[in-house]
Amino acid sequence: MYLLGECGQWCILLSMLLVETARTFALAEEARREITTACNAAFGQDFDALFSLLPPDGLHLLGRRDGRLVTHLVLTDRRLRFGQGPWRRAAYIDAVATLPDCRGEGLAGLLLEKASALCGTSHDLFALCASRENLYRRHGFATWRGPLFLENEDASGTGEVHLEEILMLRPARESLPEAGAALTANWRPGGGF
Ligand SMILES: CC(C)(COP(=O)(O)OP(=O)(O)OC[C@H]1O[C@@H](n2cnc3c(N)ncnc32)[C@H](O)[C@@H]1OP(=O)(O)O)[C@@H](O)C(=O)NCCC(=O)NCCS
Repeated sequence: MYLLGECGQWCILLSMLLVETARTFALAEEARREITTACNAAFGQDFDALFSLLPPDGLHLLGRRDGRLVTHLVLTDRRLRFGQGPWRRAAYIDAVATLPDCRGEGLAGLLLEKASALCGTSHDLFALCASRENLYRRHGFATWRGPLFLENEDASGTGEVHLEEILMLRPARESLPEAGAALTANWRPGGGF
């Protein structure tokens, strides 16, 4: 259950989670540190390079309990195309992280729904790479089973990529094409899909 508040804040009443949205460029140094610290704790690996890879207009969803950042994700604009079809505007999701002592309460799921409410009309689809599928399937994502290609940095061509993770897609408007088509993404800093 969401209640839209003022100043870009949403209060999610059932879980007493206050969700703030902030663009990457507007995050103060302290907020950046909070995010990397939360990601480091959630993933058990070093996320200190996160802000060197994100575009300035990345949109962070920050879920706080009693002021403490307990869950986070970030949305960035990507271009994706199926086969030789038109480029689609995708909201690409990264750094989905809930602190270990707050897991299993639906907090990451709440952020996914909030992301959907924010970008559902402006974007054609949502995409992310996941290590497991459960969470995302429950929120309407499907595993993409076709070959994946990534544009070169100068957009002069593409190269096939073989992901160890699972690529999940969720249409924001129209339905996805039949699995099996090639899916191409634009290049991004870090070079990952
Ligand atoms: C994944 C994660 C964000 C889920 O946060 P959460 O607030 O507990 O999520 P919810 O309560 O909304 O949903 C819990 C579901 O997430 C699933 N989940 C746990 N780890 C997951 C992962 N790495 N990828 C996808 N789903 C995951 C759980 O299996 C659970 O589903 P189940 O109840 O069917 O078992 C949290 O476990 C986490 O931070 N993990 C470490 C970082 C990570 O792997 N992030 C995801 C990268 S794709």
